[in-house]
Amino acid sequence: GAPVEVDISNLEPGQLMTVEWRGKPVWILRRTQEEIESVEALTESSTLRDPLSEEESQQPPFAQNIYRSIEPDVLVVIGICTHLGCSPTFRPEVAPPDLGPDWQGGFFCPCHGSRFDMSGRVYAGVPAPTNLIVPPYRFLAENRLLIG
Ligand code: FES
Repeated sequence: GAPVEVDISNLEPGQLMTVEWRGKPVWILRRTQEEIESVEALTESSTLRDPLSEEESQQPPFAQNIYRSIEPDVLVVIGICTHLGCSPTFRPEVAPPDLGPDWQGGFFCPCHGSRFDMSGRVYAGVPAPTNLIVPPYRFLAENRLLIG
């Protein structure tokens, strides 16, 4: 499939947009400062299976960091659960009643309960084996992405 060019100039902090690339949903999230801090705090907490993105198949080398991205505020990730391919839901709120007091915001897969943080990093103890996949992408300009 051809690369997809995306204008993110209207994407506000806290907003998620979805584009299609090679028949797959790609999420682009503009993280807030609080969300960036939650990514940093969770890295220390050892509740994640692969907090440093050491599993190389899940992202290009440029995203092998705790933000799993080029810019800390812009996450680009394929919106497909790494367990059996369901579509996780975006749950940015902290500690909602249905997800419990430990939830720091992220992506929740309703099929079998897998949890991913605001970097798409999988929590330990859920069915999904790996972090969400980061596709190849680059910035053409400050607010213009090329995915693929
Ligand atoms: Fe997401 Fe099973 S497909 S938890």
